[in-house]
Amino acid sequence: MTAAIIRPVTPEDLAALAAIEQACFPDPWAVSALGILTAPPYGGLCALLDGAVVGYVGWMFIPAGDGMAAEAEITRIAVLPAARRCGIGRALLDAMIARLRPDGAPLSVYLDVRASNCAAQTLYASCGFVRHGVRPRFYGDEDAFEYSLHL
Ligand SMILES: CC(C)(COP(=O)(O)OP(=O)(O)OC[C@H]1O[C@@H](n2cnc3c(N)ncnc32)[C@H](O)[C@@H]1OP(=O)(O)O)[C@@H](O)C(=O)NCCC(=O)NCCS
Repeated sequence: MTAAIIRPVTPEDLAALAAIEQACFPDPWAVSALGILTAPPYGGLCALLDGAVVGYVGWMFIPAGDGMAAEAEITRIAVLPAARRCGIGRALLDAMIARLRPDGAPLSVYLDVRASNCAAQTLYASCGFVRHGVRPRFYGDEDAFEYSLHL
């Protein structure tokens, strides 16, 4: 269980998100790229501990239409190393799903993850995601595993 506060990403959060990117990814997104998270079809939630942003999740959302259920693609999820294994990653995913599915309507969530990223894959599996495919050399140096969750 985490005591983190989770709320929508605002433009004022983007520098903190860029710092998280620097700490968590070999190909960090800059503030200019992260700006998409503040307007549809993209969105994002950040997690705060003691007033500091320590993690975030970003997505692209496609509303239901033409007989198709709503879909979301997770673009990024990251938690600063010092704040990991406290339930923040899972809390961000739970909050994202609750936000995109307030009425309990069908929702499919998709994501790609590096084949070597066991921590993220264990997180996704613990949240009910299922591995359904592989994208060979998707990251250039590495395959991507495709995960999905159908609610
Ligand atoms: C993946 C990541 C977001 C997880 O964040 P987190 O806040 O540590 O995750 P949680 O504490 O909510 O963990 C939830 C569950 O995920 C699994 N998990 C998380 N980190 C794990 C690890 N290092 N090893 C094994 N299982 C792990 C566990 O099942 C854990 O439950 P438990 O702690 O009760 O055993 C974090 O490790 C991270 O930011 N990694 C770098 C960025 C990244 O790889 N993002 C994903 C890109 S696709």
